[in-house]
Amino acid sequence: MCGIIGFTGYLDVKNVLLEGLEALEYRGYDSAGIAFFEQDGIKTIKTTGKVTNLCDKVEGTSINSTCGIGHTRWAKHGGVSYTNSHPHTFGNVTLIHNGIIENYHELETALAHQGKYPVSQTDTEIAAMLIDSLYDGDAIETIKKAIKQLEGAYAFCILFADQPDVIYCLRNGSPLVACKSKEGSVIASDMVALIKYSKEYFVLPELHIAKLTKDNIVVSNLEGAIIKPQMLFVKWDMTAARKGGYAHFMLKEIHEQPSSLRSTIMPRIRNGSLPDLTADGIPNEIFHGINRVLITACGTAMHAGLVGRVLLEKLLRIPVTVEIASEFRYQDPIMDESTLVITISQSGETADTLAALRLSNEKHAKTLSIVNVKGSSIARESNYVLYTHAGPEIAVASTKAYTAQLSCIYLLALQFALAKNAITEPECASFVSQLQSVTTAVENTLSLEKAIDEISSHLKETEDLFFIGRGLDYALSCEGSIKLKEISYIHSEAYAAGELKHGTLSLITEGVPVIALATQTNVYSKMISNIREVRARGAMVILVTNGEIAVDSSIYDYHIALPELDDLFAPFTTAVVLQLLAYYTTIHRGYNVDQPRNLAKSVTVE
Ligand code: AGP
Repeated sequence: MCGIIGFTGYLDVKNVLLEGLEALEYRGYDSAGIAFFEQDGIKTIKTTGKVTNLCDKVEGTSINSTCGIGHTRWAKHGGVSYTNSHPHTFGNVTLIHNGIIENYHELETALAHQGKYPVSQTDTEIAAMLIDSLYDGDAIETIKKAIKQLEGAYAFCILFADQPDVIYCLRNGSPLVACKSKEGSVIASDMVALIKYSKEYFVLPELHIAKLTKDNIVVSNLEGAIIKPQMLFVKWDMTAARKGGYAHFMLKEIHEQPSSLRSTIMPRIRNGSLPDLTADGIPNEIFHGINRVLITACGTAMHAGLVGRVLLEKLLRIPVTVEIASEFRYQDPIMDESTLVITISQSGETADTLAALRLSNEKHAKTLSIVNVKGSSIARESNYVLYTHAGPEIAVASTKAYTAQLSCIYLLALQFALAKNAITEPECASFVSQLQSVTTAVENTLSLEKAIDEISSHLKETEDLFFIGRGLDYALSCEGSIKLKEISYIHSEAYAAGELKHGTLSLITEGVPVIALATQTNVYSKMISNIREVRARGAMVILVTNGEIAVDSSIYDYHIALPELDDLFAPFTTAVVLQLLAYYTTIHRGYNVDQPRNLAKSVTVE
């Protein structure tokens, strides 16, 4: 959601900013702009639409600068327009901003009393006006005063007209990461824009101010003390953030799953047979005294939680609930130190999940997060972190992060079950060996790609469809449905197959596609009955089974047989089929797979 890049150093800033904005495109945006110091002051170039539009505009100008800031805006306050796009300038101040200033209206009223009025409809311009009104030549003191007045989540990069080649940055809630290299100092809203310059970086701590100059980055807290931020290191490089020969990031990320699963699972297996999370700082003691698990997350990450619930309850025999983070945070939930709260997030910055985590911390629950982005807010604020080693996920539709999240939940459930003596070591070893075999099964599932492409072509004209399943297959139906609708724009719903008769069956008419997941033996015959119900009403059925099961061919139009796994592990292979189905349906419909309309990769506002 909105992208930020700032650079001061020894390179042509135009190239740095445009490349940085291109790298950040995946976050979702609808306008883009840059501002930079030139001999005669700060210049701004911005445009609605894509970064390529900005590149075209920049091409026609001669820029001679080595310091500037760039932004991709995802409209929140005020529509998509040239005036509303960032950077915003008021007086001495030019800035870019991610987040929302919640008290912008009060600030705007106060500024109007000083005879100052904005030209845009954005909360960002109000922030520029506020900072300018407080500016007395001392940037850091001014920013401190502004912080006292600003409410909401924000990340800012600020240029002061009288301080050439210096960038000031601060954040509260919204992420900012920074690095130093021999070429200069760089700051960005996420690591993919920094990786070109360094693998070593730091997360700007909240409510701290960073001053970037060509050769240095100085971070100070609100008391004025200079602090040394904790340096982090990413294992991946530029190639991980490129398409690498694939038509889209989503397809590349789908294909990376065998390797991301291996990287996530293998280092956590002791002697080839038992889970071991001690290297992650998760000792068995944390499970002592836990009598309830609460999983909270958003979107796909929440769907990973739905699988987690089935698994944890089966292995542990303690109650597990899954809560949508945006609901949970306002529900005054009941929890205490005997509750383990698991938050799941790819980005580690999702505003609602972060708020749910903070609430859980306040209520003294034990908090553990499953996160992909190292050093992200959710990871830092949780008592314990289990990182997914999925590498950067660029496509808005989450794929490899989801299956990596599943693998972490499985590892966690096994370790927890062992710690509670809910399973024996030999039982655990058998689960672990099945978990390890998932990587090969996922590889084999990928070989179904051509067939899934062909099946997807029959969904090209569809406007509504349904996913049905029971138990784990219901959790996967939810995931299949979100994947399809977010990128193909086909309206779809996930239904617990047994619920069909209670309403949805009225929507099943001739030709309506129903994707029926039937991978679970204990409810298999029930599922077949449900499929017959929709079939009798003319549904076009795409059936997914765990292994080559002989099924009456009159009940389906298309049958996808997954490589056979124990039922409990079928979510991994089912997920891959559903991802490919969503991908190819979108291709056949001709939409932008990696950057669907209105959506952002990382949702850092409520
Ligand atoms: C998934 O395809 C989505 N784009 C979305 O639901 C996502 O999973 C959700 O916004 C949560 O993001 P997070 O994992 O970064 O917290």
